[in-house]
Amino acid sequence: MERTLVIIKPDAVQRGLVGPILTRFERRGLRFAALKLMQITPELAARHYAVHKDKPFYPSLIKYITSGPVVVAVIEGNDAIKIVRTMMGETHPAQAAPGTIRADFGMEIGRNLVHGSDKPETAAFEIPLFFSDDEILSYQRAIDSWIYE
Ligand code: CMP
Repeated sequence: MERTLVIIKPDAVQRGLVGPILTRFERRGLRFAALKLMQITPELAARHYAVHKDKPFYPSLIKYITSGPVVVAVIEGNDAIKIVRTMMGETHPAQAAPGTIRADFGMEIGRNLVHGSDKPETAAFEIPLFFSDDEILSYQRAIDSWIYE
């Protein structure tokens, strides 16, 4: 079972897309291990996006991600990192495949609605930035045996 950090970004919250986006993950069979509404501070944004700090888009990225409330989640399942990223689509919505979140709801890279960890090491770094251990729950659902063999 793999865990990934998902951020439903300020544009998606403002556009009333929290429910539709979370529903997609839930319907797929993924499980929420943690979920909360929060405002990302500039300090937290700088830690989360440290890898991009020398990129030309960094200042606008920090402004965007701190511009309003976000919903953050730890989502788990077998191959959760790959499955979530495939569901989100390419970073630029214009390049994202139809049926993905970014293609179905987005128009440009600076308003791409969602973030998901790109690999296990990134998830291991990102999850503790947003959640303490006691906010992340381990549990089974009755439907899990209908999702996995
Ligand atoms: P995310 O998956 O959160 O990871 C880094 C973010 O930087 C990305 O989604 C976009 O929101 C943003 N980003 C990446 N490349 C660009 C770019 N060329 N111009 C503007 N924003 C970008």
